[in-house]
Amino acid sequence: MALTGAGISAESGLATFRDAQTGLWSKFRPEELATAEAFQRNPTLVSDWYAWRREQALKAQPNPGHLALAEMERRVSEFLLVTQNVDGLHERAGTKQMVELHGNIHRFRCFENDCSSENFDLDKGRCRSCGGHLRPAVVWFGEMLPVDALESAIKGSEECDVFFSIGTSSVVYPAADLWRRAKNNGAIVVEINKDSTTLTALADYSFRGKAGQILPQLVRQVWIPESAGGL
Ligand code: APR
Repeated sequence: MALTGAGISAESGLATFRDAQTGLWSKFRPEELATAEAFQRNPTLVSDWYAWRREQALKAQPNPGHLALAEMERRVSEFLLVTQNVDGLHERAGTKQMVELHGNIHRFRCFENDCSSENFDLDKGRCRSCGGHLRPAVVWFGEMLPVDALESAIKGSEECDVFFSIGTSSVVYPAADLWRRAKNNGAIVVEINKDSTTLTALADYSFRGKAGQILPQLVRQVWIPESAGGL
């Protein structure tokens, strides 16, 4: 099982959240942009911000880190990727077995009534069923995670033999608790992060460096020794 965070998309040019100066939360106030209250107060401000992030994500390309995880999935009998990222880059990299724990920025929901019809007028940003506002289908602060996604992530972490924690600061729960479930069930915990985190001292292995450089090497060395040339 691999849990990924914003760090794996950093080499695709997408800002992380908490990296000093460059992180989104160093420039923008999450309580003004990533809560239901913020959307209620100013739906245009929030929608514009997500439109800007959506554009960034569409312009970005999956990097060697995303591609290496897609390759890992092809090389092992059972694999699950759980991502906190809403950018859709893992899917574009070819990963199939995936859980988007915090939703997906390219999808929408009806804010007022969560109309299941999904009969949406994206241009007007309105739900055709009830006339309500459209919001991005992502998990905002203070909101519950999608039940199915969380259950799949917990099940995966409790059944895996190897748990990778990649490009995440391990501070946002419940995602930040998955490694502990894996460890408690006997899994080997491997962290990949350019900086040390709260998990570093607790992981069995912690590789310091960029995911887009370490993951291809790891996949090559473990699964494709004969192709030392390249992944
Ligand atoms: N390779 C590996 N790790 C990296 C790289 C890289 N190229 N670049 C940055 N990192 C690491 C940083 O050191 C940091 O530990 O990625 C981590 C990114 O952490 P955050 O910005 O906190 O992002 P994340 O852990 O995904 O945040 C969790 O918080 O804001 C909410 O919903 C949002 O899903 C997000 C959640």
